Amino acid sequence: MSDKDMRLIWVVPQVNSCPFDGAGVFIFLLEEMVICLMVGGGVLVKLQNYLMRGMNIMENKNSKKRILTGDRPTGKLHIGHYLGSLQNRVALQEEYDTLIIIADVQALTTNFDKPEKLKENVMNVALDNLASGLNPEKATMFVQSMIPEIAELTVYYSMLVTVNSLRHNPTVKTEMKQYGYNDISYGFLGYPVSQAADVTFCRAHLIPVGDDQLPHLELARKIVRRFNELYKPVLVEPQPLLGSVPRLVGLDGNAKMGKSLNNCIYLSDGSETVKQKLFSALTDTNRTKISIPGDPEICTVYQYQRAFNQDEAENIGQMCRAAAIGCTACKGCLYEKMESILTPIRERRAYYEARTEIVYEMLHSGNQRTRRIAAETMQDIRKAMSIDYFYNKGLMKDNNMKVKSYIGI
Ligand code: TRP
Repeated sequence: MSDKDMRLIWVVPQVNSCPFDGAGVFIFLLEEMVICLMVGGGVLVKLQNYLMRGMNIMENKNSKKRILTGDRPTGKLHIGHYLGSLQNRVALQEEYDTLIIIADVQALTTNFDKPEKLKENVMNVALDNLASGLNPEKATMFVQSMIPEIAELTVYYSMLVTVNSLRHNPTVKTEMKQYGYNDISYGFLGYPVSQAADVTFCRAHLIPVGDDQLPHLELARKIVRRFNELYKPVLVEPQPLLGSVPRLVGLDGNAKMGKSLNNCIYLSDGSETVKQKLFSALTDTNRTKISIPGDPEICTVYQYQRAFNQDEAENIGQMCRAAAIGCTACKGCLYEKMESILTPIRERRAYYEARTEIVYEMLHSGNQRTRRIAAETMQDIRKAMSIDYFYNKGLMKDNNMKVKSYIGI
């Protein structure tokens, strides 16, 4: 039975006309059969928990270890994303239970003034993941804003992080410069805390990322250690996994390829665009004539040779140093190699672009599955922090209160 075969379609806790206190009706779909159960009293909550747990176990079938990673939907993804993280998520999707977050709330840290762009960019990021070879049958892609548990967890974590440690985060500092901000919002300063919630709400073990994300991962690991020590050990400490090229230089020679730097080759760029971008990319500026030996170490294009053309890179480097190959020939050779990687990516993108309803459906079921995972972790977290007293029967009984069951309302 696959996780899609059993779906809890409706839970109606506390049916008022029911003679039992706290009784309710379960309706669920089991291998295409609709099953309806009436239960009373404490059995209701127990059964509810049991079913939720059962579904989560089925979802993480062979109790595989879990991967969580993702991107901000601020535009299309580029070859830097591919080498930094996408390649690893695709390679590991069989071995790990893979969750991909489309971090739309995090995108608001810099795009708060244009939230209307998010919808289109969520689709772009989903398409780029599928285009890179992510299998929607194997991996779960979801949208951050659809998982309110992440926001809740962010607030709890924010008590465990000092403002100074956030102000010293090197990635936040670089981004501040990049966007020309003198001051930043509370949300921007705190997004690494929210990212710690992203990677821990599902108890992920492995986080495939580029090296700019390492400070955020380090913070997440600190928070987990602190939480587990202070309360109860219910969280998993995530490990980073760097890509084959943890940081790719931009076409202009900038240390990083980035959308806001306008120096990218996008996964969705057409063949002609890639050619034109590559052929105008920065090389060794001292090499004004083909007869002057080049220095591959200061050449942007050579960094791409290393990234995309490992087999020939060494040889091309030697020829460049000996003035035995010119920049045009070197670029031509790289272009062929990159095309062999980018062509299947373009083809898969075109397939899904023509069928966006499949992509929305995939995101919808991804959100549903992720919420079930999040709900389970949050129960353990609230319990560990002893902030589950309101749902605890003791309080309800003490005060002779009738409180609606919190699940499903
Ligand atoms: N900060 C990441 C980026 O800028 C996006 C992201 C959000 C992320 N949540 C994450 C990456 C969790 C890895 C894990 O691309």
